Amino acid sequence: MLIGILKELTPENRVAILPEAVSVLIALNSEVIVEKDAGLNAFVSNDQYEKSGAKIVSRDDIYEKSDLILKVNVPQEDEIKSLKPNQVIVGTLNPLTNKTLVSLLNDNGVTAFSLDAIPRISRAQAMDVLSSMATVAGYRAVLEAAFNLPTFFPMFMSAAGTIKPAKVLILGAGVAGLQAIASARKLGAVVETFDVRSAVKEEVQSLGATFVEVEGAIDDAKAGGYAVEQSEEFKKKQTELIQQHALRSDVVICTAQIPGRKAPLLITKETVQNMKPGSVIIDLAASTGGNCELTENSKTVVVNGVKIIGNSDYPSGMPVDASRMYGKNLINFIKLIIDKEGKMNLNFEDEIIKGACITHDKQIVNERVKSLFE
Ligand code: NAI
Repeated sequence: MLIGILKELTPENRVAILPEAVSVLIALNSEVIVEKDAGLNAFVSNDQYEKSGAKIVSRDDIYEKSDLILKVNVPQEDEIKSLKPNQVIVGTLNPLTNKTLVSLLNDNGVTAFSLDAIPRISRAQAMDVLSSMATVAGYRAVLEAAFNLPTFFPMFMSAAGTIKPAKVLILGAGVAGLQAIASARKLGAVVETFDVRSAVKEEVQSLGATFVEVEGAIDDAKAGGYAVEQSEEFKKKQTELIQQHALRSDVVICTAQIPGRKAPLLITKETVQNMKPGSVIIDLAASTGGNCELTENSKTVVVNGVKIIGNSDYPSGMPVDASRMYGKNLINFIKLIIDKEGKMNLNFEDEIIKGACITHDKQIVNERVKSLFE
């Protein structure tokens, strides 16, 4: 099996596989080719890839020769056209929001796997790139907030007087939210957290944050650890309570999401207008509409002295460890689709392989993606 690693398109800094993981692929009886300069933005040289046993080639060679192509981000239209029928591509393809991409992959007869479509079951935890990247985002969100805040995070008692600790409000206690709580606590902030799933209460408290509950939340155990849409009455009550807490916070970190839907709106324009000037909102949900009404994706806006940061690219800003985590998850998935002889072995009886497969043999395989076309 010849495995090709592409350089990601600008502005992405991550790379799908770092040199340290190349040896794992070679041990699977495979050869590895890497596009020239694929690792440069993650501070990895072509030399380092060569030392790990890979060969450096051109972009055209990757498309021409690879049996399996590994990527981080969604391929562009011209990249898909460069793929050959029966080639296999694995990346984070975002298929539920990208019907055109799915049609193009299918028309080209490509077998495409999307790591963000892997079912969130315990056996697949080691392949969960969404959790890995949310961990990076939760951590970076806190650092970005601390850097932008005009005051300290920790409490200080000094000859110049006492400095009060920053108050941080975290909306959503999933992977990113829990990481944000831990990071904000390490920096000495006082942290409050909202979530609609009461199951996270103990985890939130064990990290040293206060869990704020709004009664009447719909908590569906069948949703597999994800939130579900709430009633209008609940949403109104929640927005009012969040507003009260936001007005006395210095930082709000928004991480609330309901998979496959627009991000729930939790911080209204009115709330922002009444927040303390100088406070900071980091909206991790910016790419799906944001939890704050005034968030603009990939932009920073300032309203009434409140800075609202809608950066959707935190993993790219920390490319070494983000690539390391992504690559580990990716390799754990690849071990499922390559056998010990280095041959492709696609067992569609396996729910992880079936769930992650978007297109194969000119068919759309993933059920949720298929339903988009019905
Ligand atoms: P997750 O699904 O693990 O957690 C989301 C949490 O929000 C869940 O605990 C859920 O119960 C909670 N939630 C849903 N509706 C709520 C509501 N109305 N009020 C309070 N809580 C509510 O998601 P994960 O992996 O932690 O990701 C969080 C967000 O971060 C997502 O929007 C994701 O797309 C984004 N993200 C952003 C990145 C960036 O660079 N900006 C990178 C990676 C993820």
